[in-house]
Amino acid sequence: MSTAVRRKRNSPNNPVKKEKEDSILSKKKNDVKEPLVSWRKLLGRFLFTVLILGVIFFSTMHKSVNEIIFASQRETIDRRSHRVNCSPDYDKEKHLASCLPKICGRVVTDTLITPEEAQQLLKLAKKGFSYGESDGGASILDLYSGALSMGRKFVNIYKNPEYANMFTEDDFKVYRNVKTKIQSTISMEFGAMPNDLYPTQPTFFSRITSKAAKTIHDEYWHPHVDKETYESFHYTSLLYLSNYGVTFSGGQFVFIDKNINATIEPKLGRLSMFTSGSENLHYVEKVVSGERFALTISFTCDKKFAIKQIGPK
Ligand SMILES: *[C@@H]1O[C@H](CO)[C@@H](O)[C@H](O)[C@H]1NC(C)=O
Repeated sequence: MSTAVRRKRNSPNNPVKKEKEDSILSKKKNDVKEPLVSWRKLLGRFLFTVLILGVIFFSTMHKSVNEIIFASQRETIDRRSHRVNCSPDYDKEKHLASCLPKICGRVVTDTLITPEEAQQLLKLAKKGFSYGESDGGASILDLYSGALSMGRKFVNIYKNPEYANMFTEDDFKVYRNVKTKIQSTISMEFGAMPNDLYPTQPTFFSRITSKAAKTIHDEYWHPHVDKETYESFHYTSLLYLSNYGVTFSGGQFVFIDKNINATIEPKLGRLSMFTSGSENLHYVEKVVSGERFALTISFTCDKKFAIKQIGPK
């Protein structure tokens, strides 16, 4: 046996030697067929691209599955509602029961506020912001307190003679009419006794652009609950005064729900009303370009937070 092994080792077909020869051969082969390697590289790159595209495709699919457009800019909605369970936020306010929401959720309507009213309010807002705006992307004009964004601060348009007569009695009239319509619709939709519901602060016009934020007041995109920001709030209404995808991009309003997010695309004259508790956690997407105008009118059940007339005092 040992002789046989020895013979094998000494044989000219030594496997080690053969391996060496093979590798030299294959090296030569590779040198000759250089383009084959490039094709392999190309194929690799192609497959990698396909993989990346696949990941992007499925992640956007995933996003669209978990995000519904509750109100698209292209449609005109007579009335659309989405009911959600009321959060326990209202439990500690039993003394206000006649006005607290019987039903919680959101309602959108494009037909309650007329196009003329929306146009007039837009004109009013533009006039206001021509006097002052925030250095960052988000300016506000509060017709009740008179606060107007100015640089990194606010000025009071009712205290400064420079701004006197900025608004006419007609401006205030259209605002009041719109507010009254919204108030009665909210009480009907959510089961609040109309006489126990009051406008509250802040109530303001907003103008958002894509400018970088300069102060905390410019950071509108954080998810939040209105009732946590302003304890007095029970109902929030938003009247949009410009068209998503037309005069601005980005800036969609998003309700964050457990399994699905619901997006409202702003539209001139579109009114969104919702209960202000944590059942309606939401945020606004960053505005990417253009100008986004809206009017926020909030309501409370607590008389001590009620505001009376807007306009100079
Ligand atoms: C809803 O939006 C929030 C904030 O952008 C996000 O963190 C959350 O994952 C979204 N939820 C779903 C179900 O897509």
